[in-house]
Parts: sequence; C-alpha cells; structure tokens
Amino acid sequence: MRRYEIRGGRALSGGVVLQGAKNSALPLMAASALCTEGKVCFENCPVLEDTSLTERILVSLGCGVTRKGGLMTVDPSGICRCSVCREYCAGMRSSILFLGPLLARFGRAEMFLPGGCLLGARPVDIHIKGLEKMGADVRVEGDRITAACPRGLRGAAIELPFPSVGATENMMTAASLAEGKTVIENAAAEPEIGDLADLINRMGGHVRADGGRITVFGVKRLHGCRKRIIPDRIAAFTFFAAALATNGNIMVRGADPAHLRAAMRALEKTGAAFEISEDGIGVRRALDRILPTEIVTAPYPGFPTDDMALAMALLTVADGVSSLRETVFSDRFALTDELLKMGADMTVRRNVALVTGVHRLRGAAVRATDLRAGAALIVAGLAAEGETLIEDDGHIARGYENIVGTLSALGADITEREN
Ligand code: EPZ
Repeated sequence: MRRYEIRGGRALSGGVVLQGAKNSALPLMAASALCTEGKVCFENCPVLEDTSLTERILVSLGCGVTRKGGLMTVDPSGICRCSVCREYCAGMRSSILFLGPLLARFGRAEMFLPGGCLLGARPVDIHIKGLEKMGADVRVEGDRITAACPRGLRGAAIELPFPSVGATENMMTAASLAEGKTVIENAAAEPEIGDLADLINRMGGHVRADGGRITVFGVKRLHGCRKRIIPDRIAAFTFFAAALATNGNIMVRGADPAHLRAAMRALEKTGAAFEISEDGIGVRRALDRILPTEIVTAPYPGFPTDDMALAMALLTVADGVSSLRETVFSDRFALTDELLKMGADMTVRRNVALVTGVHRLRGAAVRATDLRAGAALIVAGLAAEGETLIEDDGHIARGYENIVGTLSALGADITEREN
C-alpha cells in the first residue's frame, strides 16, 4: 500500500516535461510482438508500473527487452510462447492487447480476461466479435481466453458497435498480418490510434486511419523500426487541473494542443488561460476564481472520460454549480465519496454529477479507487487547506511517471511512502 501525504494551499509554478503517453506505449509495446525480424526501439516510453508489467509480459513470451530511461528496445524475434499468464492479465486491462498480435503472428493465443481500473463493466466482447469476423475461433471458459485461426486471419469489413479504443487496437494489429484488406468502421479515433497506425506502417505494414474509419492491407511479415511515442494528453490535463486548482501558473513542456482541443476548451470555460508555444502549453487562471461549467464525456474528439475525474476535482472549488455527465464508464464517479470527505458539495444521480463549488476543500484521509481518481485526489489535496493522506494500492504509479518529484518541482508539498 502506498501513501501520499500532501499539505495543500501552495500555488504551483514552473515547468514540467510531459511523459510519453501510457495509452500509446502499452498498445505499441504489445504490437512489437508482430515483428519476426529486427528490433523495435521506442523513444519517450514512460517509466510506469504498467509499462514495466508489459515489459514482463514481452519477456515471458520470449522477447528480449532492454530499457534505458525513456528508450526501450524490444527484440521480438525470439518469441517462443503465445500465452500470457493469469497473474499478468489480472494486473492490467491492456494485457488484452496481446490477443491481436499473437493471433496474427502465430495463429493462436491464450490469455485470461483482463483486470485493471474498476470503472464498471469492462467486457471484451467487441474485441472477440471483431477477431471472429477475421476468421478466428475465440473461446472464453471462465476467465480463460483461447483463440485460434489455423488457416490464418483474413481481412474483413468490421463495424464496431462502440468506438472501443482497445478493440480498435486489437483489430489493427490482427489485420496487419491478415490475408487481404480490413476496413474498421466506427473505430476509435484517439491520438493513440494514430500512433499505433504510424508504428505498424514503420514496421512495413499498410494502415490508413482517417477519423472513425481504418483501412488495413495485410502483409506477410513485419520488421523492427524506431518510434517516438506521443506525449500523454491525460497527464497534461492532470497538470493543468493542478495548476488551476492552486491558482498557479505552469508550463507543460511537450504537450500537443492538437490532442487537447476539447479538454482545453472545457477548461477555458472555467476561466483558464492557455499560452501555446513550440515549447508546450502554459496555463493559469485568467480570473481570480474558477467558473462553473457543464461537461459531457464522449469518445475522441469529445471530452475524454479519463479527464473527468480531474475536472470534477477542480470544479469542487468553482464559484457556482457545475454539471458533469459521464457517458463511457458507469463507475467513473467512484471518487465522489472521497471528495465529500474533503468537504466537497456534490450529488451524483446515475451518470450525472452536480458539483456545487465550495470556497476551500479541507485535507482528509482518502483512498484512491482507480488511476485517475487517485490523480484527482492529489489535485484536490493540493488545493485543500491542511493535510491530505491518500491510501493507494498502486493505482497512481501505474499511469504517472514520478508524480511526487514532478509536483514537488512545481512547489507542491507532497511526499509518498510505502506502508
Ligand atoms: C482505453 O481503455 C484506455 N486505456 C482507458 O484509459 C480509457 O478510459 C478508455 O480507452 C476510453 O477512452 C488504455 O488505452 C490502456 P474502451 P479501453 O474499450 O480500451 C465498453 C486510463 O485511465 N466496451 O474504449 O478498455 C467499455 O466497457 C484508462 O488511462 C465493451 O462494452 O476502453 C466501456 O464502457 C482507463 N466491450 C467503453 O466500451 C468491449 O469489448 C469504452 O471502452 C470493449 C469495450
């Protein structure tokens, strides 16, 4: 159990160098298993619990992996297994992203239903149905998944019932070595999808991602390459929220405004002022207070569900009533009870939260229920009066690289220790 201790009330200032995107690094690392020759060198790969676990999965399959800071080199030529153990699958939702690459390369794959953040039901039916359309036989018995396509995958026309990010990523990797053409309609369009398409093309594949439609022409084999991972737009939003909640003024170096349009628009409605330069994005309050607002989450390019917990934390100290509607995950508001312990004033009915801003939150002992809820409690603790203690069984470190060091460098009074 990890405990974060925060003494709030200090305005953040200075600059942070934004980490590489967790939600790009994980699918890209899994996709490296597609290559039969050469090595895949990733630049700007964040050092996180989740990337470390993905590294262990690659090694368990027979890959060679070396890591030097943000540079990770994967040698997938020696893969000799196509099964991922239950313990690894239980540790992370994105373990499911090995299904497409292993099935495409070896014609079979064995793994277990994935664990990960408890945000509500997180089935994998869309992944399975899409792979079946490409000729795979996929069975789920208990929590075990076995997939086979002895005659190889073949291209198909696939329409996703929901633009699932993970399912889109599994379709792309599976289709990259399938026989013929695959068209994925109603696909996810997050920047991480474009990053995966870029990796597969660098490996010798043929993927075209334009908005919600992805076209893939299968090839016989894929080879190693070099790839820089895009910056983490959710971590960027996290630092924006922390700066605004503490009435600070920071520069987030490496943030890409093209990935943050809906997110920045929402914060501008709360009175945020942004300064965009080639260095990154500067943020501060334009007014002496946070304005209330309305936010509805939606698949990209809508307001990201992962930013909702951070927005909620910020709006607990807005000057008025905000309305937050979550449309992607049923349990995104799990952090509500924890924020109420800090003196927030809000009511949640089904997927709508009404947040009445208070003048100041007060420090309290709270618990991180998932990754972004944990980050949101840090934001709340930074803004609160007094000391906040956050009990966390590993969520925060899964998605944020050195969050204590980064926030301390901005002037926050935050420490962490293992209990
Ligand atoms: C990815 O999860 C991200 N994780 C999540 O970020 C993010 O919240 C989510 O996309 C939505 O943007 C990674 O990229 C590693 P989905 P994923 O499949 O792929 C339902 C974080 O904090 N669904 O787009 O699991 C599902 O239940 C994490 O960094 C099915 O019904 O999300 C959910 O309601 C949290 N059947 C919705 O679709 C399926 O087969 C969106 O899920 C798959 C999904």
